Amino acid sequence: MDQINEEIISFPHGFLWGTATAAHQVEGDNIHSDWWSWERSARRAQALKQEGKNAEDFISGHACDHYHRFEEDFDLVKRGGQNAHRLSLEWSRVEPEEGVWDEKEIEHYREVLEMLKQRGIKTFVTLWHFTNPQWLSARGGWLKGSTVNYFVRYCEKMARTLGDLVDVWVTLNEPGAYVHLSYHWGWWPPQKRSRAQMCLVLMYLACAHRRAWKTLKSVTRGTPVGIAQNVISYAAYRKHHLWDHLLVWMMDVSTNHLFYWLSGMKRHDYLGFNYYFRVRLKRRRGSIFAEQDSVKDQGREVSAMGWELYPHGIFDSLMDFADIKKPVYILENGIATDDDTQRQKFIIEHLREVYHAIKGGVDVRGYFHWSLLDNFEWHEGWRPKFGLVAVDRETFKRTPKESFYLFKKIAEENSITNDEVQSSNAK
Ligand code: FCB
Repeated sequence: MDQINEEIISFPHGFLWGTATAAHQVEGDNIHSDWWSWERSARRAQALKQEGKNAEDFISGHACDHYHRFEEDFDLVKRGGQNAHRLSLEWSRVEPEEGVWDEKEIEHYREVLEMLKQRGIKTFVTLWHFTNPQWLSARGGWLKGSTVNYFVRYCEKMARTLGDLVDVWVTLNEPGAYVHLSYHWGWWPPQKRSRAQMCLVLMYLACAHRRAWKTLKSVTRGTPVGIAQNVISYAAYRKHHLWDHLLVWMMDVSTNHLFYWLSGMKRHDYLGFNYYFRVRLKRRRGSIFAEQDSVKDQGREVSAMGWELYPHGIFDSLMDFADIKKPVYILENGIATDDDTQRQKFIIEHLREVYHAIKGGVDVRGYFHWSLLDNFEWHEGWRPKFGLVAVDRETFKRTPKESFYLFKKIAEENSITNDEVQSSNAK
């Protein structure tokens, strides 16, 4: 890796440094959500058995018990030099039955957000991070247009009861990833495998965002509203193969841009990016569809999720949106690994690319590392470790890793030194 001209890579004044979590992955005991019932379903148990997996490792249970330990966790955020935090509200907690609001749970979230505020930490609040109330799924979930109305009603309630404590709203987390995982590949509840349903759900989610944007703007006027979009860096497998390039263009448009087109760029006050990996594509033999190359077989460095580590991709993805001229937040970026040295290297390398994008004219205003804690990674269960802080599965004891202290130093100094870049090169 080449040397950077400056001795110190400095981030803009007022840059936000934080970590991100999602309710279902950290809180524990979200007993009214569709994930909770799916994790315990016979279908799921059977599938895990067939794969020779231990069902216990794929049940969220008490998760990180963040629901009861949020004070301790926010002390960690503060101690870690972070000045912003992203978390999600669990819809199924605040509306466990259709139209019935649980005021105690809303009060709980008030306490959560107040605690961040007392520590001088900016609050980024996600309204929907993959999970749905069970009653909503029973009514057909996101395959039904009425879900849009329910979602907007929930957003309005949250804005009226918690809005004064929210600095930035994130309506939806990764709608594009959700429709693939839940309605196309069938890996997540409700485990559908239909392109038509996938498209329909994406339309409804776009509509939900558009309407939620309007509602949130009318209740909490000055608060920016956007989404967390999963961005993937695509590359053509064969340099001179036109079809490969066409597939890259199509995948890039559908993954990274389509949701903005469907929901309307005017309805996004900022661009929220979740970036993790790159994918190289080629045309599948005898098909018009794409096939991914297997980075693992090539001996490339991948994360424990099998995702190719490609720091330059975050730069590419950011530059792709440079013309849009909106504030940008990296709302998620992180790595599943048991090797914390690899995580430290990952952080430095990705931040270095974010810095280049800022220099290149992208108005990046903050970076949220995924995640604060080792948490419940959806269908992958407890195995992947994404946290800056380890959590003991029995005692819930939190133990900051080296990367936590590296991130603290970066956040406090609002910069990375060239020495850090060089030492990450050597790792
Ligand atoms: C993102 C999700 C987040 C987490 C990370 C690893 O796609 O938004 O909840 O699972 O991946």
